Amino acid sequence: MKSTLKVGHRGAKGYISENTLPSIQKALDLNVDGIEIDVHLCASGELVVFHDFTLDRMTNGTGEIGKQTLSQLQNLLVDGKYKIPTLTEVLDLIHAKCLLNIELKGEKTALPTVKLLHQYFDKGTWTYNNVLISSFQRKELEAVYNFDERMSLGVLTKASVNASIRFAKTINAVAIHPNFALLSKNNVKEAQDEGFKVNAWTVNDFESIERIKSYGVDAIISDFPDRI
Ligand code: G3P
Ligand code: CA
Repeated sequence: MKSTLKVGHRGAKGYISENTLPSIQKALDLNVDGIEIDVHLCASGELVVFHDFTLDRMTNGTGEIGKQTLSQLQNLLVDGKYKIPTLTEVLDLIHAKCLLNIELKGEKTALPTVKLLHQYFDKGTWTYNNVLISSFQRKELEAVYNFDERMSLGVLTKASVNASIRFAKTINAVAIHPNFALLSKNNVKEAQDEGFKVNAWTVNDFESIERIKSYGVDAIISDFPDRI
């Protein structure tokens, strides 16, 4: 069986609060091949790493993350003890030691993300090979493709492998990112025969990890990446 890349979900969400610098450091300590994070654009224009559209579940704040400035967000605590990081802080921490899968979660994240990455590419540590941009939002993926065709793209889906492949072709994506419940050995092979990597999420229990690995997927995104 070919080796499956292990990718930490929101850092290493199973061990330390999601999308925080300590969670990302934990994933690095677990020797992951990649780390997945979520980004939103905040009201003062910076990219912040956070999953939900609202602050209520994970922080002591409330309301939409996109309506708060960075300084307002920096006064909040995630799970009572962690700061909400910026994408810049995450890029500095990972320092291209593994693949970074940036999920464009919020609207209007595409261009600022690519522009920030260009600054890092110019500095020389990060390269196009170290970054994979994914999203459920087709508009954001199209915006990346129209701005910089060299960015590697992954099409997220929780609905249909076939539909994601059809769309992936229109933006020259390199991968599809299906919820693992959508997968079978056959559709993984079909996607790969069409030239796409298949990166499955979010696979956490040992039995499911073994089953999805047996389908020959290229990567598994897991809260417990050391289980892969
Ligand atoms: O990128 C894979 C996975 O993170 C997508 O779903 O809701 O965990 O961001 P979600
Ligand atoms: Ca995500």
